[in-house]
Amino acid sequence: MCGIVGGVAERNIVPILLEGLKRLEYRGYDSSGMAVLDGQQQIRRVRALGKIKNLSQKIQESTEEFAGNLGIAHTRWATHGIPAENNAHPHICNNRVAVVHNGIIENYQELKAQQLDKGYRFTSQTDTEVVAHQIHYELTLLGESEDALLKAVQNALRHFKGAYALGVVAVNDPHTLIAARKGSPLVIGIGIGEHFIASDVSALLPVTQNFIFMEEGDVAHITRETVRIFDATGQIVERAVKQSTLTAHAVELGDHRHYMHKEIFEQPQAVIDTLEGRITQEHVLVSAFGHQAEALFATIERVQIIACGTSYHSGLVAKYWFEDIIGLPCQVEVASEYRYRNPAVLDNTLFVTISQSGETADTLAALQQVKNSKKAKNIPTLTICNVPESSLTRESDLTFLTHAGPEIGVASTKAFTTQLVALALLLTAIGKTQKHLSSKRETIIVRGLQKLPGLLRNALQHEDKIIELAQLFADKNSALFLGRGTMYPIAMEGALKLKEISYIHAEAYPAGELKHGPLALIDDQIPVVMIAPNDDLLEKLKSNLQEVKARGGQMIVFEDELSNIESEGSMQVVKATTNVGRITAPITFNIPLQLLSYHVALIKGTDVDQPRNLAKSVTVE
Ligand code: F6R
Repeated sequence: MCGIVGGVAERNIVPILLEGLKRLEYRGYDSSGMAVLDGQQQIRRVRALGKIKNLSQKIQESTEEFAGNLGIAHTRWATHGIPAENNAHPHICNNRVAVVHNGIIENYQELKAQQLDKGYRFTSQTDTEVVAHQIHYELTLLGESEDALLKAVQNALRHFKGAYALGVVAVNDPHTLIAARKGSPLVIGIGIGEHFIASDVSALLPVTQNFIFMEEGDVAHITRETVRIFDATGQIVERAVKQSTLTAHAVELGDHRHYMHKEIFEQPQAVIDTLEGRITQEHVLVSAFGHQAEALFATIERVQIIACGTSYHSGLVAKYWFEDIIGLPCQVEVASEYRYRNPAVLDNTLFVTISQSGETADTLAALQQVKNSKKAKNIPTLTICNVPESSLTRESDLTFLTHAGPEIGVASTKAFTTQLVALALLLTAIGKTQKHLSSKRETIIVRGLQKLPGLLRNALQHEDKIIELAQLFADKNSALFLGRGTMYPIAMEGALKLKEISYIHAEAYPAGELKHGPLALIDDQIPVVMIAPNDDLLEKLKSNLQEVKARGGQMIVFEDELSNIESEGSMQVVKATTNVGRITAPITFNIPLQLLSYHVALIKGTDVDQPRNLAKSVTVE
C-alpha cells in the first residue's frame, strides 16, 4: 500500500503534490511527507504523522517558503516501523538523495548490515531507508558521469529483493526525477512542459489526462521536457501514451458526506456502465471477455476463483450460480491461503481472479504461481478487475473490466456489485458456449440484469428506515449476520462491512449452522441480521428465525415483497425489495446491508472512508 506522487515542472510543484497525496490518501494514511529541491538546489523535507491535512498545515506554517520545481511525496500505510514521523517518507541520505517507496524491500536487513559497515546512519525502522543509502553509495562510485543518477538507481535496483514503486531525486541532478517499478503500480503523467509520477491516475487528473503505464522492471528518467524509459534489461523502450477517460470530477465528493455514501448511491449507474456493450436485448456477448474467450471457454471443465476480502465474497456468490445454473464445478479460495498451500491444479480449469484494484499482492502472487506451474494443462486465466492497466489485467489471458469508476472509500461497495454483474455475465457466457444454458434462460438472465439498476434504486430508498434501525447497534459490541444459499456470502459481506467501518465485531453464519454452536451467543445484546428473500430456502430460514426469537434475540430481517414475515416484538422487518430473481437477489439484498454499516459507523463516529489500520489497495503481503 502507500501512495507516491512526484513531478518536475516550471511552476511550483508543492500544491500539485499535495492534491495528489489527498487523492491517494485511500492507499494509506498513517503519515505523509514531501521533499522538494528548492531555489538553492537543496533538498527540503516536511513530514507529518496522520492524515495529509496535517502535512498541509505544516507546510503552510513553515517559516521559510516551502516551494520547488522538482519534488516527491508519499502517504504511508505502515509495514516496517510504527507510524511515526521518522518513519514517514521521503527518506534522505546525507542531504543528497531523497526517495519515496511503495512496496517492501525483503532483504533490507542484509543490506542494512552492509551499509552500516560502510558508515551509513539509519534514522528510521523502515525497509526504505536502505534504498536511499544504496542509491547514494552507487552515486559516489559513479562520480560526475553523464546520467549518473539514472545509472545509480539502475545499479541499486540490482541489490533489492521484493516489490517497489520508487520516486528518486538528488541534488547532483536537480532537474531529473527517476521512477522505477517492480511489483507496485506506477504511472507517468504527461503534461505540457511538465511531467509527473503517481501510484494511480486519479492522483494526477487535475494536471493531465495522458499517462504512460510503467511496466514491470521499467526505470524512467524524467525531466520537464523528456521521458526516457529503460526496461528490465536496461534497453531504452517506447511505451504508449494512453488517454484516461476519467475526469478529475469523478473522484470528488459532491454533495455526499463520505465517499462510501457516494459510492453506494452510484451503484445503479455502475451496473448500467458495466453492462454497456456487453449485452444485447436478449444475449450476453461472449467477446466481452476478449476475442479468445469463446475458444477458451469451450475447453474448460471447472472454474477456480481466487480473491481477497470483499472480492472473495463475490466469488462465493458465483460458486452457487455456476454449479446451480450451468452445472460447472467452481472452487473459491482466498488468495493468501491458495498461494501457500501447494494446491492440486486440474487440467482445463478457468482460473479467475477478482479484484477492485488489480494490485492485491496475494491475488497477484496466486495468479503468477498458477501461470508458472507445470502441474496442469490448459489453465486459461481471466481477471475481473476495476482498474485498467493494473498488474492483474496485464498478467491475465482475459480481462473483464468492471466499470464501477474510481472507488475511493476503503470499504468496497460499488466494486462488489459490479463484480457480481461481471460474474453473472461470465456464467452466462460459459453456459451458452458450452451449451449448458438455453437461449431462453440466457434471455431471462439478461432481462434480470437490465432490471437491476431499478431494483438497486428502490433498495436505496429504504435509507431512512435503515437510519432508524442503525440505532440498535449504538451500544452493541457484537452482531450476527445470517443467510442461506447465496445470502450466506452476502451475510459475510454485511458482517465484513460492519466490522471494518464501525469496529463492531460481526460474524456471518449460514443460518442452518445456528444450532451447531452460535445459538449459544444469542441474547438481547447481539443484534441478529437476517436476509430473507422469497426463495426455495425461505421456509427453512423462517425456522431459524424462530430459533433466534425463542431465545430473546433482537432481529432485523430484510425480506422481499413475497416473503411475508411481519415485524413483531424485538423483530423488525424491512421489505427491502420487490420479488427478485436468483441472480438479482444477492446483488439487491447487499444494498441495505451497506447502508446499515454506513449509518452504524456514523453513530459510532468512526472515520468511515479511512477506517483505522486499513488501506484500500493491499499491495503488500
Ligand atoms: C473490504 C475491502 C477489502 C478488499 C480486499 C481486496 O471492504 O475493500 O476486503 O476487498 O482488500 O481488494 P481488491 O479487490 O482490490 O483485490
